[in-house]
Amino acid sequence: MTPLEEDPIEAKPFLKWAGGKNQLLMEFNKILPQKILRNKKIHNYVEPFVGGGAMFFFLRNNYKIKRSMLIDVNRELILGYKVIQNNYKELIHELHVLKDDYLSKSEEIRKDYYYEIRSAYNHQMTDFDYNNYNNEWIDRAVYLIFLNKTGFNGLFRQNSKSEFNVPMGRYKNPKICDEGNIIKVNRSLKNTLIICGDFTLAEEYINKKSFVYFDPPYRPLNKTSNFTSYAKEGFTDYDQKRLAEFYRKMANKGAFLMLSNSDPKNNNPNDNFIDELYNGFNIKRVPARRIINCDASKRGELNEIIIRNYLK
Ligand SMILES: C[S@@+](CC[C@H](N)C(=O)[O-])C[C@H]1O[C@@H](n2cnc3c(N)ncnc32)[C@H](O)[C@@H]1O
Repeated sequence: MTPLEEDPIEAKPFLKWAGGKNQLLMEFNKILPQKILRNKKIHNYVEPFVGGGAMFFFLRNNYKIKRSMLIDVNRELILGYKVIQNNYKELIHELHVLKDDYLSKSEEIRKDYYYEIRSAYNHQMTDFDYNNYNNEWIDRAVYLIFLNKTGFNGLFRQNSKSEFNVPMGRYKNPKICDEGNIIKVNRSLKNTLIICGDFTLAEEYINKKSFVYFDPPYRPLNKTSNFTSYAKEGFTDYDQKRLAEFYRKMANKGAFLMLSNSDPKNNNPNDNFIDELYNGFNIKRVPARRIINCDASKRGELNEIIIRNYLK
Protein backbone atom coordinates (compact mmCIF):
# COMPACT_ATOMS: atom_id res chain seq x y z
CA MET A 1 0.00 0.00 0.00
CA THR A 2 1.25 3.48 -0.81
CA PRO A 3 0.98 6.21 1.86
CA LEU A 4 -1.77 7.74 -0.27
CA GLU A 5 -4.03 4.75 0.21
CA GLU A 6 -3.39 4.41 3.96
CA ASP A 7 -3.92 8.03 4.72
CA PRO A 8 -7.07 9.90 3.59
CA ILE A 9 -6.14 13.09 1.72
CA GLU A 10 -9.25 15.17 2.29
CA ALA A 11 -8.45 17.79 -0.29
CA LYS A 12 -11.08 20.29 -1.33
CA PRO A 13 -11.36 22.61 -4.35
CA PHE A 14 -8.54 25.16 -4.32
CA LEU A 15 -10.73 27.72 -6.09
CA LYS A 16 -14.29 28.80 -5.49
CA TRP A 17 -15.91 28.05 -8.83
CA ALA A 18 -19.34 28.90 -10.20
CA GLY A 19 -21.53 25.80 -10.35
CA GLY A 20 -19.55 24.03 -7.60
CA LYS A 21 -21.33 20.85 -6.59
CA ASN A 22 -20.58 20.70 -2.87
CA GLN A 23 -24.19 20.62 -1.74
CA LEU A 24 -25.05 17.68 -4.02
CA LEU A 25 -22.17 15.34 -3.27
CA MET A 26 -24.10 13.19 -0.79
CA GLU A 27 -26.91 12.71 -3.35
CA PHE A 28 -24.40 11.77 -6.04
CA ASN A 29 -22.62 9.40 -3.69
CA LYS A 30 -25.79 7.38 -3.05
CA ILE A 31 -26.27 6.72 -6.76
CA LEU A 32 -22.76 5.79 -7.85
CA PRO A 33 -22.49 2.46 -9.68
CA GLN A 34 -22.93 -0.45 -7.21
CA LYS A 35 -19.57 -1.83 -8.19
CA ILE A 36 -17.82 1.35 -7.05
CA LEU A 37 -19.82 1.53 -3.82
CA ARG A 38 -19.03 -2.11 -3.07
CA ASN A 39 -15.32 -2.18 -3.94
CA LYS A 40 -14.54 1.42 -2.95
CA LYS A 41 -12.47 1.58 -6.11
CA ILE A 42 -12.58 3.46 -9.41
CA HIS A 43 -10.32 2.20 -12.12
CA ASN A 44 -10.45 5.19 -14.43
CA TYR A 45 -12.20 8.42 -13.43
CA VAL A 46 -12.94 11.01 -16.12
CA GLU A 47 -14.43 14.46 -15.51
CA PRO A 48 -14.77 16.47 -18.74
CA PHE A 49 -16.11 19.72 -17.13
CA VAL A 50 -14.02 19.72 -13.99
CA GLY A 51 -14.38 23.37 -12.80
CA GLY A 52 -13.43 23.53 -9.11
CA GLY A 53 -13.52 19.71 -8.99
CA ALA A 54 -15.84 19.22 -5.98
CA MET A 55 -16.81 15.73 -7.22
CA PHE A 56 -13.24 14.77 -8.13
CA PHE A 57 -11.90 15.70 -4.68
CA PHE A 58 -14.82 14.03 -2.93
CA LEU A 59 -14.26 10.77 -4.80
CA ARG A 60 -10.51 11.01 -4.37
CA ASN A 61 -11.02 11.36 -0.61
CA ASN A 62 -13.44 8.44 -0.34
CA TYR A 63 -12.51 5.93 -3.02
CA LYS A 64 -9.32 4.48 -4.34
CA ILE A 65 -8.87 5.94 -7.83
CA LYS A 66 -6.25 4.34 -9.98
CA ARG A 67 -6.12 6.94 -12.74
CA SER A 68 -8.01 10.15 -13.47
CA MET A 69 -8.46 12.52 -16.34
CA LEU A 70 -9.72 16.07 -15.86
CA ILE A 71 -10.72 18.44 -18.65
CA ASP A 72 -11.97 21.99 -18.78
CA VAL A 73 -12.07 24.52 -21.57
CA ASN A 74 -11.00 27.34 -19.24
CA ARG A 75 -7.26 27.79 -19.70
CA GLU A 76 -6.74 29.83 -16.51
CA LEU A 77 -8.34 27.12 -14.40
CA ILE A 78 -6.30 24.36 -16.04
CA LEU A 79 -3.15 26.46 -15.54
CA GLY A 80 -3.92 26.51 -11.80
CA TYR A 81 -4.30 22.70 -11.66
CA LYS A 82 -1.08 22.16 -13.58
CA VAL A 83 0.94 24.50 -11.36
CA ILE A 84 -0.29 22.70 -8.24
CA GLN A 85 0.58 19.41 -9.89
CA ASN A 86 4.10 20.49 -10.94
CA ASN A 87 5.29 23.33 -8.68
CA TYR A 88 3.15 23.50 -5.56
CA LYS A 89 6.07 24.44 -3.27
CA GLU A 90 7.01 27.54 -5.28
CA LEU A 91 3.33 28.41 -5.56
CA ILE A 92 2.88 28.25 -1.78
CA HIS A 93 6.01 30.33 -1.22
CA GLU A 94 4.90 33.06 -3.63
CA LEU A 95 1.35 33.07 -2.25
CA HIS A 96 2.69 33.57 1.28
CA VAL A 97 4.79 36.54 0.15
CA LEU A 98 1.81 38.13 -1.61
CA LYS A 99 -0.55 37.40 1.30
CA ASP A 100 1.80 38.95 3.90
CA ASP A 101 2.22 42.03 1.78
CA TYR A 102 -1.52 42.41 1.09
CA LEU A 103 -2.69 41.80 4.65
CA SER A 104 -0.22 44.36 6.02
CA LYS A 105 -1.98 47.13 4.05
CA SER A 106 -4.90 49.31 5.10
CA GLU A 107 -8.35 48.68 3.61
CA GLU A 108 -7.95 51.62 1.22
CA ILE A 109 -4.58 50.47 -0.07
CA ARG A 110 -5.79 46.88 -0.40
CA LYS A 111 -8.35 48.13 -2.87
CA ASP A 112 -5.68 49.66 -5.13
CA TYR A 113 -3.63 46.52 -4.69
CA TYR A 114 -6.50 44.28 -5.86
CA TYR A 115 -7.16 46.35 -8.99
CA GLU A 116 -3.45 46.60 -9.79
CA ILE A 117 -3.13 42.83 -9.67
CA ARG A 118 -6.30 42.38 -11.70
CA SER A 119 -4.95 44.71 -14.33
CA ALA A 120 -1.51 43.03 -14.36
CA TYR A 121 -3.28 39.64 -14.68
CA ASN A 122 -5.28 40.85 -17.67
CA HIS A 123 -2.25 42.47 -19.31
CA GLN A 124 -0.14 39.37 -18.91
CA MET A 125 -2.71 37.37 -20.89
CA THR A 126 -1.90 39.13 -24.18
CA ASP A 127 1.26 37.26 -25.01
CA PHE A 128 1.18 34.50 -22.46
CA ASP A 129 2.28 31.06 -23.63
CA TYR A 130 -0.57 28.81 -22.50
CA ASN A 131 0.66 25.93 -24.63
CA ASN A 132 4.05 25.33 -23.05
CA TYR A 133 4.40 24.97 -19.31
CA ASN A 134 7.06 27.36 -17.94
CA ASN A 135 7.92 29.30 -14.76
CA GLU A 136 5.62 32.19 -15.66
CA TRP A 137 2.73 29.82 -15.05
CA ILE A 138 3.52 29.92 -11.32
CA ASP A 139 3.18 33.73 -11.14
CA ARG A 140 -0.06 33.55 -13.07
CA ALA A 141 -1.47 30.87 -10.75
CA VAL A 142 -0.57 33.09 -7.79
CA TYR A 143 -2.61 35.92 -9.32
CA LEU A 144 -5.46 33.52 -10.14
CA ILE A 145 -5.70 32.26 -6.55
CA PHE A 146 -5.27 35.74 -5.07
CA LEU A 147 -8.05 37.18 -7.26
CA ASN A 148 -10.33 34.21 -6.55
CA LYS A 149 -9.88 34.53 -2.78
CA THR A 150 -10.21 38.30 -2.60
CA GLY A 151 -12.66 38.99 -5.46
CA PHE A 152 -16.40 39.45 -5.00
CA ASN A 153 -18.14 36.18 -4.09
CA GLY A 154 -15.17 34.17 -5.32
CA LEU A 155 -16.53 34.28 -8.84
CA PHE A 156 -14.37 33.70 -11.88
CA ARG A 157 -15.96 35.78 -14.59
CA GLN A 158 -14.42 36.92 -17.85
CA ASN A 159 -15.63 39.46 -20.39
CA SER A 160 -15.74 38.88 -24.15
CA LYS A 161 -11.98 39.58 -24.34
CA SER A 162 -11.35 36.89 -21.69
CA GLU A 163 -10.40 39.57 -19.16
CA PHE A 164 -11.12 38.81 -15.53
CA ASN A 165 -13.65 41.47 -14.52
CA VAL A 166 -14.80 40.63 -10.99
CA PRO A 167 -14.81 43.58 -8.53
CA MET A 168 -13.06 43.37 -5.18
CA GLY A 169 -14.83 41.41 -2.42
CA ARG A 170 -15.25 42.49 1.18
CA TYR A 171 -13.21 40.05 3.21
CA LYS A 172 -11.37 41.12 6.36
CA ASN A 173 -9.03 38.17 6.42
CA PRO A 174 -9.20 36.22 3.16
CA LYS A 175 -7.44 32.85 3.14
CA ILE A 176 -5.12 33.69 0.26
CA CYS A 177 -2.73 30.84 0.96
CA ASP A 178 -4.36 27.64 2.19
CA GLU A 179 -1.07 25.81 2.30
CA GLY A 180 -2.43 22.58 3.81
CA ASN A 181 -5.07 22.24 1.13
CA ILE A 182 -2.69 23.04 -1.73
CA ILE A 183 -0.46 20.20 -0.53
CA LYS A 184 -3.47 17.86 -0.39
CA VAL A 185 -4.61 18.95 -3.85
CA ASN A 186 -1.12 18.20 -5.15
CA ARG A 187 -1.33 14.70 -3.67
CA SER A 188 -4.80 14.18 -5.12
CA LEU A 189 -3.49 15.00 -8.57
CA LYS A 190 -1.08 12.05 -8.68
CA ASN A 191 -1.83 9.79 -11.64
CA THR A 192 -4.05 12.47 -13.10
CA LEU A 193 -3.98 13.75 -16.65
CA ILE A 194 -5.13 17.37 -16.88
CA ILE A 195 -6.16 18.77 -20.25
CA CYS A 196 -7.42 22.13 -21.46
CA GLY A 197 -10.00 21.89 -24.21
CA ASP A 198 -13.40 20.69 -25.31
CA PHE A 199 -15.10 17.80 -23.46
CA THR A 200 -14.88 15.60 -26.57
CA LEU A 201 -11.11 15.27 -25.95
CA ALA A 202 -12.06 12.76 -23.24
CA GLU A 203 -13.17 10.24 -25.86
CA GLU A 204 -9.92 8.34 -26.27
CA TYR A 205 -9.55 7.93 -22.48
CA ILE A 206 -13.02 6.50 -21.90
CA ASN A 207 -13.51 2.74 -21.94
CA LYS A 208 -15.58 0.17 -20.12
CA LYS A 209 -13.47 0.57 -16.97
CA SER A 210 -14.29 4.29 -16.76
CA PHE A 211 -16.64 6.17 -14.51
CA VAL A 212 -17.41 9.55 -16.10
CA TYR A 213 -19.08 12.46 -14.33
CA PHE A 214 -20.29 15.29 -16.59
CA ASP A 215 -21.21 18.64 -15.09
CA PRO A 216 -21.70 20.96 -18.08
CA PRO A 217 -22.59 24.63 -17.70
CA TYR A 218 -26.23 25.01 -16.78
CA ARG A 219 -28.72 25.64 -19.47
CA PRO A 220 -30.11 29.11 -18.63
CA LEU A 221 -33.42 28.87 -16.76
CA ASN A 222 -34.82 31.74 -18.76
CA LYS A 223 -33.60 34.29 -21.23
CA THR A 224 -32.43 36.74 -18.58
CA SER A 225 -30.46 34.27 -16.48
CA ASN A 226 -27.78 33.67 -19.04
CA PHE A 227 -25.03 32.65 -16.67
CA THR A 228 -23.32 30.13 -18.88
CA SER A 229 -20.20 32.11 -19.66
CA TYR A 230 -17.43 30.56 -17.59
CA ALA A 231 -15.40 31.14 -20.71
CA LYS A 232 -16.24 33.75 -23.27
CA GLU A 233 -17.67 31.21 -25.72
CA GLY A 234 -20.55 30.08 -23.45
CA PHE A 235 -22.39 26.77 -23.76
CA THR A 236 -25.37 26.86 -26.10
CA ASP A 237 -28.24 24.45 -26.80
CA TYR A 238 -26.18 23.28 -29.75
CA ASP A 239 -23.43 22.30 -27.27
CA GLN A 240 -26.01 20.53 -25.06
CA LYS A 241 -27.01 18.47 -28.13
CA ARG A 242 -23.40 17.76 -28.98
CA LEU A 243 -22.90 16.60 -25.39
CA ALA A 244 -25.94 14.29 -25.50
CA GLU A 245 -24.55 12.67 -28.68
CA PHE A 246 -21.18 12.26 -27.00
CA TYR A 247 -22.90 10.74 -23.94
CA ARG A 248 -24.64 8.11 -26.13
CA LYS A 249 -21.39 7.29 -27.84
CA MET A 250 -19.59 6.81 -24.50
CA ALA A 251 -22.51 4.71 -23.18
CA ASN A 252 -22.00 2.42 -26.19
CA LYS A 253 -18.39 1.97 -25.12
CA GLY A 254 -19.69 0.42 -21.87
CA ALA A 255 -18.46 3.18 -19.53
CA PHE A 256 -20.51 4.14 -16.44
CA LEU A 257 -21.83 7.67 -16.89
CA MET A 258 -23.40 10.26 -14.61
CA LEU A 259 -24.42 13.72 -15.81
CA SER A 260 -26.02 16.59 -13.92
CA ASN A 261 -27.73 19.71 -15.21
CA SER A 262 -30.36 22.21 -14.15
CA ASP A 263 -33.87 20.86 -14.66
CA PRO A 264 -35.55 22.93 -17.40
CA LYS A 265 -38.87 22.04 -15.76
CA ASN A 266 -37.94 24.33 -12.84
CA ASN A 267 -38.92 27.18 -15.07
CA ASN A 268 -41.39 25.61 -17.44
CA PRO A 269 -43.05 22.27 -16.54
CA ASN A 270 -43.57 21.60 -20.26
CA ASP A 271 -39.91 22.02 -21.19
CA ASN A 272 -38.72 18.56 -22.21
CA PHE A 273 -35.39 19.65 -23.72
CA ILE A 274 -33.13 17.55 -21.48
CA ASP A 275 -35.63 14.64 -21.13
CA GLU A 276 -35.72 14.35 -24.91
CA LEU A 277 -31.96 14.59 -25.35
CA TYR A 278 -31.42 11.75 -22.87
CA ASN A 279 -34.47 9.69 -23.74
CA GLY A 280 -33.95 6.03 -22.77
CA PHE A 281 -31.48 6.73 -19.95
CA ASN A 282 -32.12 6.68 -16.22
CA ILE A 283 -33.33 10.21 -15.35
CA LYS A 284 -33.70 11.34 -11.74
CA ARG A 285 -34.54 14.69 -10.20
CA VAL A 286 -33.18 15.86 -6.85
CA PRO A 287 -33.73 19.13 -4.96
CA ALA A 288 -30.71 21.45 -5.11
CA ARG A 289 -30.01 24.93 -3.87
CA ARG A 290 -28.96 27.16 -6.74
CA ILE A 291 -26.16 29.38 -5.52
CA ILE A 292 -25.17 31.29 -8.60
CA ASN A 293 -28.14 33.57 -9.25
CA CYS A 294 -27.14 37.19 -8.56
CA ASP A 295 -30.76 37.92 -7.71
CA ALA A 296 -31.21 36.64 -4.13
CA SER A 297 -34.96 36.16 -4.65
CA LYS A 298 -34.25 33.52 -7.29
CA ARG A 299 -31.95 31.42 -5.13
CA GLY A 300 -34.67 29.06 -3.87
CA GLU A 301 -34.98 25.26 -4.00
CA LEU A 302 -34.73 24.02 -7.54
CA ASN A 303 -34.36 20.56 -8.97
CA GLU A 304 -31.19 19.24 -10.43
CA ILE A 305 -31.58 16.58 -13.09
CA ILE A 306 -29.24 13.57 -12.98
CA ILE A 307 -28.84 11.22 -15.93
CA ARG A 308 -27.20 7.83 -15.59
CA ASN A 309 -26.74 5.03 -18.09
CA TYR A 310 -26.95 2.41 -15.34
CA LEU A 311 -29.60 1.39 -12.84
CA LYS A 312 -27.32 0.12 -10.09
C1 LIG B 1 -20.89 23.67 -13.95
S1 LIG B 1 -19.19 24.02 -14.20
C2 LIG B 1 -18.44 22.65 -13.41
C3 LIG B 1 -18.43 22.86 -11.94
C4 LIG B 1 -17.71 21.75 -11.17
N1 LIG B 1 -18.47 20.52 -11.17
C5 LIG B 1 -17.41 22.17 -9.75
O1 LIG B 1 -17.76 21.46 -8.80
O2 LIG B 1 -16.83 23.24 -9.57
C6 LIG B 1 -18.94 23.76 -15.90
C7 LIG B 1 -17.49 23.85 -16.39
O3 LIG B 1 -17.48 23.51 -17.78
C8 LIG B 1 -16.45 24.25 -18.42
N2 LIG B 1 -16.75 24.23 -19.87
C9 LIG B 1 -17.56 25.04 -20.60
N3 LIG B 1 -17.61 24.64 -21.89
C10 LIG B 1 -16.81 23.54 -21.99
C11 LIG B 1 -16.47 22.66 -23.06
N4 LIG B 1 -16.95 22.84 -24.29
N5 LIG B 1 -15.63 21.62 -22.81
C12 LIG B 1 -15.12 21.44 -21.55
N6 LIG B 1 -15.40 22.25 -20.49
C13 LIG B 1 -16.25 23.28 -20.70
C14 LIG B 1 -16.49 25.59 -17.75
O4 LIG B 1 -15.25 26.27 -17.87
C15 LIG B 1 -16.84 25.22 -16.29
O5 LIG B 1 -15.67 25.11 -15.51
